[in-house]
Amino acid sequence: MKKNTELINGNVWYDTDGNVLHAHGGHMLFWQGEWYWYGENRTENRYVSVYRSGDLVNWTFCRHALTTDSPTAEYRVKTDRKLRTADGGKINVERPKVIYNEKTKQFVMWMHVENGKDYHDAACAVAVCDRPDGEFTYLGCFNPFGYMSRDCTLFQDGDGTAYFISASRDNADLHVYRLTEDYLSVECLVHKLWQGEYREAPAVMERNGKYYMFSSYCTGWAPNQCRYATADAVEGRWSMLADIGDAVTYRTQPAFILPVKKETGIDYYYVSDRWNGKDYNDSRYVILPLSFTPDGRPVMEYRDEFCPGL
Ligand code: GAL
Repeated sequence: MKKNTELINGNVWYDTDGNVLHAHGGHMLFWQGEWYWYGENRTENRYVSVYRSGDLVNWTFCRHALTTDSPTAEYRVKTDRKLRTADGGKINVERPKVIYNEKTKQFVMWMHVENGKDYHDAACAVAVCDRPDGEFTYLGCFNPFGYMSRDCTLFQDGDGTAYFISASRDNADLHVYRLTEDYLSVECLVHKLWQGEYREAPAVMERNGKYYMFSSYCTGWAPNQCRYATADAVEGRWSMLADIGDAVTYRTQPAFILPVKKETGIDYYYVSDRWNGKDYNDSRYVILPLSFTPDGRPVMEYRDEFCPGL
């Protein structure tokens, strides 16, 4: 198969076997010289698939990381570990994110889980694996401190402290939880951000000691204005929200922010979903470079192609 030198935003993207790449609402992890892309795959019995790439434009399918048949393990009492509904159907797994825990040597996935019928469970779930491209063991879903938890992300700070961020109170508030050292549970709720602003699809990055959180407004599959805020520390004070991109963020919603280390410095990319609400499996991806003004304001401009130049 011909090698890609770039990916065209909004087109169907294929893996190196020529199959449609399903990694929606996803996340990437850099591990031993390669990127691993995890994301939603709603085909057949799958929930999460993982792909690998050395150049960010040619993606090799590794495996389905979580399916209806994945192993489960007991971790905490009263954690629902079912990967199927009572009638044998699928549950809903959304926005899977994976980080590596240096202390436990485990790859830890957090995600949003629903009952497969509606969005009333508003739960988060955890799964673990001892390698980045293996099948994850599902540890079950729960409501952190009893709170609702929908659109979510993970952020790992430079000192290894990790945070789980998710939409709560029927999406009205965005909660920031510090994770326990093993990353398997929430240790403490550190913020209830922008109460009543209905922020979704959070994505966090750090640059020169400044933290940025991007998020969308809450309009289901329809795109809306991306906004961002900044802070000097994740647990510090976050600024008010400011617009970025156009009014529908070039018809996208944030998935995550990708930092790419180069000899010349770090490039940052806004990785997003262009959802197709009528035909979910035909949802596409758009990856745009973020540039920064001298005073650190992020700027997003539309490009037809994603060309990381690696
Ligand atoms: C969006 C959310 C997606 C998905 C969708 C369902 O707002 O970001 O992850 O849950 O709603 O309508």
